[in-house]
Amino acid sequence: MRAKRAPVLLRLAAVVAAGGLLLAGCGRNMAEQPRVEPLQESSLLPGRSGSLTPPEGTVSRQRGGIDPVFFTGQRDGALVTELPVELTLGLLQRGQERYDIYCAACHGYVGDGDGMIVRRGFPRPASFHEQRLQDASVGYIFNAATNGFGRMFAYADRVPAEDRWAIAAYVKALQLSQHAHADDLPAEVRRSLELERSAERASR
Ligand code: HEC
Repeated sequence: MRAKRAPVLLRLAAVVAAGGLLLAGCGRNMAEQPRVEPLQESSLLPGRSGSLTPPEGTVSRQRGGIDPVFFTGQRDGALVTELPVELTLGLLQRGQERYDIYCAACHGYVGDGDGMIVRRGFPRPASFHEQRLQDASVGYIFNAATNGFGRMFAYADRVPAEDRWAIAAYVKALQLSQHAHADDLPAEVRRSLELERSAERASR
């Protein structure tokens, strides 16, 4: 028995020793190399600036490329009234999911402004169903999410531009949902709604 155990212990000791050696080899040298931060002065780079203008023809790997409308929600200094991305069911579904995560806590799931944080004392935002906000453009919603609004902080660092457009599109859909008219529905949906209503009336 004894003869058998010794090699196991030896092997264990060897593993521990090797691990120790490996760890001893770890330094922070790689992480702490000199580097130039954005906007920092640099004597090496042209113009002495750490932030260079991308060379002509550079293509951004982000969606939207370097399209300023996509990133600012503005064209010629005015907030855009049209989505700079394609409006699809998928976009609205993504918007609903992101809105429920990032905005509903204050603005409420239907946008009334009575989210849980507000019920716990945070200042109450205006309802998205007020006339003023119903008239507001999709760019206005995107801009508030991007740059913040009064006491509301900005979301640009937490929610990528693509998702802020999805959220803005969803807020416009939310507004429509609370003010939709039966005549706006496709014929077959309207028919089933009417059937439902008459069944309800009959059962009263
Ligand atoms: C922590 C709470 C909170 C969260 C989360 C929040 N908001 Fe707000 N929002 C506010 C408050 C409060 C105001 C009003 C601020 C003021 O008037 O000073 C506001 C204002 C706004 C306005 C402008 C309304 C107006 O009166 O013109 C828009 C648009 C808006 N928020 C969109 C969003 C979107 C989109 C999200 C999610 C990405 C979001 N908010 C997340 C609290 C929040």
